[in-house]
Amino acid sequence: MDVMDNITRIDDLAKAGILPKEELVELLSSYSEGDRMYAAEKARETSLSVFGRKIFSRGLVEISNYCRNDCYYCGIRRSNTKAVRYRLSEDDIHYCCDWGYGAGFRTFVLQGGEDSFFTDDLLVKIIGRIKEKYSDCAVTISLGEKERASYQRLFDAGADRYLLRHETACEAHYSKLHPSSLTLANRKRCLYDLKEIGFQTGCGLMVGSPFQTRENLAEDLLFMKEFGPHMVGIGPFIPHSETPFRDCPAGSAEDSLFMVSLVRLMHPRVLLPATTALGTVRSDGREQGILAGANVVMPNISPLEARKNYLLYDNKIGTADDASESLAYVKAKIESIGYEMVPERGDYR
Ligand code: 5AD
Repeated sequence: MDVMDNITRIDDLAKAGILPKEELVELLSSYSEGDRMYAAEKARETSLSVFGRKIFSRGLVEISNYCRNDCYYCGIRRSNTKAVRYRLSEDDIHYCCDWGYGAGFRTFVLQGGEDSFFTDDLLVKIIGRIKEKYSDCAVTISLGEKERASYQRLFDAGADRYLLRHETACEAHYSKLHPSSLTLANRKRCLYDLKEIGFQTGCGLMVGSPFQTRENLAEDLLFMKEFGPHMVGIGPFIPHSETPFRDCPAGSAEDSLFMVSLVRLMHPRVLLPATTALGTVRSDGREQGILAGANVVMPNISPLEARKNYLLYDNKIGTADDASESLAYVKAKIESIGYEMVPERGDYR
């Protein structure tokens, strides 16, 4: 039998939405620049046929950088005593949404560390007020692992979506990135709970995280196929100087872009952001992400004080800009490649 070449693998993946694990590992291990371009072109055609040249935007509000967890890769991990901790007030958060609404955002993402200050009661109140004021907007929560009952309360308060990256679908790899208090089993439990409750649910991973193998990336693709996410966040790992992984190399833009394309081919309608991390490792990273199949951007609309300190990794872009500068910058980049940011909720269909 002929050995399958990568173009055939990409064609088969696009056609069937899946490949056997060995073929995925081989593709990820041996792809050339030409193969990557081919995958990007096919993924771009797919997103054009589903979304046209419309890019959905999400206004990202970084509500707190306090975190009870100690993930080895993350700059706001509990053990980083150098992090300058902050949390936004309710008024701050609503101010961000007011500004964001005027700027055309119809989705607000409340993201933060796992901060016990933001109790279910408080979040219910915040979500309720946003939904009451802006009934035409979606609210996305990205606040980590919680009990199912808590997720249910946030959903009942009106939250529409939840982002919780699985980080890696391999048990052994998961335990190299996290302390033993965090498990892949619980992460998956959270994801399945969220989906069952009715959230549009996002998973995702860092590309090039320490100890990650090509087999791990294949496992991520297979897990996502099984889970069926509505959203997928993919960006390169970038070291943070105050973490145990400070000396580890960043993931490559190319690998990240290739993964974006493969995810688009496997999940034609998935909401797939061109991430800030991608824009950090490569100045045209977000545009390249869109050209590789992404259809969402998440400009930061947090106050300057917050974004200066919400540092998951070093050299994060946009930390010195205000919200309108961030937005204008992202808009211009999108327009420069012939796409358009639209003032729509951009739900999964
Ligand atoms: N580099 C890139 N991405 C990171 N994240 C956390 N730390 C880093 C880092 N050093 C990602 C994780 C998390 C999301 C909010 O940010 O995947 O789920």
